[in-house]
Amino acid sequence: MQQQPPGKIPQMLTGFMVWLDERFPATETWEYHLSKYYAPKNHNFWYLMGWLATIVLVNQLLTGIWLTMSYVPSGDGAFASVEYIMRDVEYGWLLRYLHSTGASAFFIIVYLHMFRGLMYGSYRKPRELLWLIGMAIFLVLMAEGFFGYLLPWGNMSFWGAQVIVSLVGAIPFIGPDLMEWFRGDFLMSEITLNRFFSLHVVALPLVLVILVFIHFVALHHVGSTAPDGVNIKKHKDSTGKPLDGVAFWPYTVTHDIHATVVFLFLFCIVVFYMPEMGGYFLEKPNFEMANPLKTPDHIAPVWYYTPFYAMLRAATYPLFGVPAKFWGFVVMVGAIAVPAFLPWLDRSKVGPIRNKGMISKVMLVIFVISFFILGYLGTVAPTPAATIMAQVCTMLYFAYFVLMPWYTRVEKTTPVPERIE
Ligand code: HEM
Repeated sequence: MQQQPPGKIPQMLTGFMVWLDERFPATETWEYHLSKYYAPKNHNFWYLMGWLATIVLVNQLLTGIWLTMSYVPSGDGAFASVEYIMRDVEYGWLLRYLHSTGASAFFIIVYLHMFRGLMYGSYRKPRELLWLIGMAIFLVLMAEGFFGYLLPWGNMSFWGAQVIVSLVGAIPFIGPDLMEWFRGDFLMSEITLNRFFSLHVVALPLVLVILVFIHFVALHHVGSTAPDGVNIKKHKDSTGKPLDGVAFWPYTVTHDIHATVVFLFLFCIVVFYMPEMGGYFLEKPNFEMANPLKTPDHIAPVWYYTPFYAMLRAATYPLFGVPAKFWGFVVMVGAIAVPAFLPWLDRSKVGPIRNKGMISKVMLVIFVISFFILGYLGTVAPTPAATIMAQVCTMLYFAYFVLMPWYTRVEKTTPVPERIE
């Protein structure tokens, strides 16, 4: 068949691309990150979470910008402006629920994303830095959620922030001054609200977006793991294409778009029918304005912080003359930071949990169960029995990490396959 000469529009496009490529690496970037970036062809459910986290990040940024258009960061105006957004701003209720539900969805997805890392050893060589960048994202995300939670200036916002900020006060010597510096005032006030607002809407989103960008750069440099531990870079065809991989564009993208539709369907059910999620996503005392004279019956943070909050409260004994509150703070910070050491704690010959030995499997199950129990204990008022339970679960949580160099070395493993079957 005779070949048709290219039409006018394709010719113009080719011309434009040549012009652009001489000035900006457009085609090179497209190929490196999309059309010639290969992911293992057996990626499963767990590998969708990074993409979904990106979708939720975009949701948070967009709805956040629109909420800021009507929100007033002042002691008198904050609570009232949220009510105004909910009642008078066109679709303001939708923007707010998309943002508040998005915050919880973000943490669900990021926890699942991190759990995938534990299951498949995603933190192992050569992905140590990728994991550390992820840990930085996790820390910034926690700070972002904390600062954002004060903004509605509800009673739980006020008292929740009060409890967490006062932890800084437990640091020996410098604590009280540091606490005052952090709050910008002698008590939680409009000044604190203003600085939390500025951190929540400008500083931390900027840091988050930069970190996510370098997370992608690092990921595309080292490539994804495969769930069965196969290294797809090992076997390539004569053109250099990995035999066990599929191009990100259009194959993985199609797969990810399908997942996005399912996710958005579930997300919309929550947004439209249960945005408060029984007080877990939006807590009841937060429908009352901040009142420094009225402490809520039971102060608890939002669900995504409760495992760490339970560990904070599990420390009940003063040590070396330093109050228990300080040790609780140390345990909490340690619990958040300890996953950063995983690349150096895991001494196993293999990455995927399916190839590891029985001890690793049991430890992972115990770790997950303890994390859930701690999450629950953080939502309820402390009793002596609950405190003992929290202490046991805190030990089990740390045991997963502290004992890892031992159990990953002594247990029997099975070899990972050479090729994806
Ligand atoms: C805003 C939050 C985040 C976004 C948007 C994000 C995005 C992504 C994306 C798109 C991928 C590739 C797809 C996938 O494997 O799921 C990925 C992979 C990865 N992420 Fe994240 N991520 C985030 C947070 C984190 C956190 C908190 C950690 C760990 C502490 C982390 C560690 C990793 C690792 C180790 C990989 C490579 C996994 C593998 O190939 O086995 N990420 N991330």
